[in-house]
Parts: sequence; C-alpha cells; structure tokens
Amino acid sequence: MEMLINGFRERFGGEPETIMRAPGRVNLIGEHTDYNDGFVLPVAIDRDIMVASRRRDDGLARIFSFDPDILVEFPMDDIEYDSENRWSNYSRGVARHLQEAGHNLSGMEAAFLGNVPRGAGLSSSAALEVSMAMSFEKVSGLEIDPVEMALICQKAENEFVGVNCGIMDQFISRMGRRDNALLLDCRSLEFEQVPLNLEGIKIVVCNTGVQRGLVDSEYNERRSECERGVKILEELLPGIKALRDVDISDFHKYKNHLPEITERRCEYVIEENNRVLESVQLLEEGDLVGFGILMNESHIGLRDEYEVSCPELDTMVTIAWSTEGVIGSRMTGAGFGGCTVTLVQEDAVEELIRKVNKEYPEITGLQPEIYICTAEDGAGVVE
Ligand code: GLA
Repeated sequence: MEMLINGFRERFGGEPETIMRAPGRVNLIGEHTDYNDGFVLPVAIDRDIMVASRRRDDGLARIFSFDPDILVEFPMDDIEYDSENRWSNYSRGVARHLQEAGHNLSGMEAAFLGNVPRGAGLSSSAALEVSMAMSFEKVSGLEIDPVEMALICQKAENEFVGVNCGIMDQFISRMGRRDNALLLDCRSLEFEQVPLNLEGIKIVVCNTGVQRGLVDSEYNERRSECERGVKILEELLPGIKALRDVDISDFHKYKNHLPEITERRCEYVIEENNRVLESVQLLEEGDLVGFGILMNESHIGLRDEYEVSCPELDTMVTIAWSTEGVIGSRMTGAGFGGCTVTLVQEDAVEELIRKVNKEYPEITGLQPEIYICTAEDGAGVVE
C-alpha cells in the first residue's frame, strides 16, 4: 500500500483520490462450463490488484505500472491497442468498452500494483480489468451496475485484448463475498452466495510453475468442440441451446451420434454442470467430504475426458490425494499449467506443504509455490 501511494506521488505528484482493489479468484468447481451457459462456483481470494487513482480533466489517461516500470498515456476518445506495452491493454480495453457502453468517463491518472501471480490461472487479468473499471467509475463520479461492469470487462478481454474467455473471472472478481463461494448461472447471470463453512479447513492453492502456454488455441478448440456437439445434438433434442440444456440420460441415448472426441468433451461438461449443482447442495448441508469427492471427480474428468490437464497438474493433484487430511483436490482455471486447488484439514496443511515441496520438484524438476487462501470480498474501495 505504501509502495503504491509513494509510486503515485512520485509519478503524478500529490495524493491519489481513491484506492480501489479487485481480487483474483480460485474456482472450486465448474471448469469450462461458463462458455457452455453452465454453472461455476468460484471464490474471490485474498490476492488482489490495487489501483491508486485521480481524475484528470484533460481527457487523458496516464497509467503507471510498477512491474515493468512504465508509464503509458492515451487519449480517452481515441483508444488503440498497444502491442508494445501489452499489460496496458487491459486498462485501454475497459476504458474503451465502458465508453462504448455509454458511460461518460473522465480522464484519469493511476498507478497499480498487485500480488496475484501472473499467468498462473488465478485471473490476474480479470483483477486488473475490474480494478481499472472501478477506478474509472469512481473518478468519473458514476455508478455502474456491478453485473454490467463484469460484462464490460469480459467484453474488453474478448474484443480488445483478444482472449476468448467466459464470464466467470470478471464476475467473481466484482461480486465475490468474504467466506462465500459464488454460484453463478452463466446463462441468466443469476447468482447466489454460498456460505463456506470451512471451520478447521483451509483452501490451499499450489502453483505448478508451468505457464499456460498452449492455452489460447486449445481453449478455443474446446469451445468449438462443445459447439459442434450442440449442433449435432440439436437435431436429436430440439430446443437445446447449449450443453447446459442436455440431460445426462438423453446424452447417453444419443452420444453415439457424436465424433468420439466431441462425445468425451460434451460428456465432461454435462457431468461437470451436474457436479456444481450437487456441490452447492452438499455445501449447504455441510458435507465437505462429499464435496471433496466431487472436486476429485472434476479433476479426473478434466484430465481424461476434457484433456486440459498436464503432467505437472496431475502430479500436484496426486500428491494432494495421497496426503492424509486432504478433502479434495483438482486443477483450477483453464488448465495446461497454472494452479491446483485443494481443501485440506487445518492440522494437515503442514504435511501437505512438506510433501509438495519435496515430491513435486523431485518428479517434475520444477519449484512449486503454495498459497493458503481465504475467500474474500469482490472489488471495492480500500479504506
Ligand atoms: C479461464 C476463462 C474462464 C473459464 C475458465 C475455465 O479462466 O477465463 O472464463 O472458461 O478458464 O473454467
């Protein structure tokens, strides 16, 4: 915080008007379901991006990043993609799309700093988009509907940054609530806070250190496979619009009409949607053991049917599964690297950390990072 404010003073002189934060997220269950009109169950975590900002009346945005140590400037009425300072495209994108949605933004000077690891599948980009959108909202004296803001941030990522993500990450970063997971219906955008009664249990996130290299092309390929499945199933099940509408027993009846790969992809998504709904019920009943089993099944589906895991993620999950006191463990986020999420009894956390630090490098040659996370509020003002 001190570093952020000092950086702002150094670059812009004087004091920031406001400090906004937006968190990264870890998805507990419901992977690759958001772009299938399905259900997700993420939590906002205690790692975030903070933006110190002040209004400008000359129609300019000046954005300072600590790492890399660079200041960019752009006119609010003519916002172009910056292929040199790619990090700045998140700010440019939200500024442009907020305005295209009809919001009258002022200029702004801002410095940002964060501790969401980048490229680790914890949605540092959504955190940056949402924290910037919140800052533009504030300095411009606006009040933007939070769901609309999440949608605009997603649009900025899809159309300006050029990443074809679903709505989960921006939504949870904006709407998360402390001690809760968020059940989101990605079709209607109706949502429900689901209390996490985690007494004696910790959420442990393990970073494989593998940056999600393949992710863009593979991610888009999975999306197309799902769309192809819907196209074929539509003929047999009139009225379905997405995999979300397909009942698992209908799927079994008709799945032999699908190419083999499409079949496996679709089966995973339909089952994962069911797992999310079942998870919410189990969490409401306080059945964490049952929930942990669903987390494990989710990983197996992602590994074997959807095929978005990788050896490092599988190794990390296997280490967790073999640790006494672990309730459930799975890869989280898009896959092909990044992090796993594990629920573990508090008194077994130390042993889990010990095993991961010893066994993971032995098997993979890579150094893991471990974050013990809490479920925190979504974006807001830092008092
Ligand atoms: C990425 C995307 C999300 C979602 C997940 C997979 O994090 O940004 O929209 O599709 O992958 O569940």
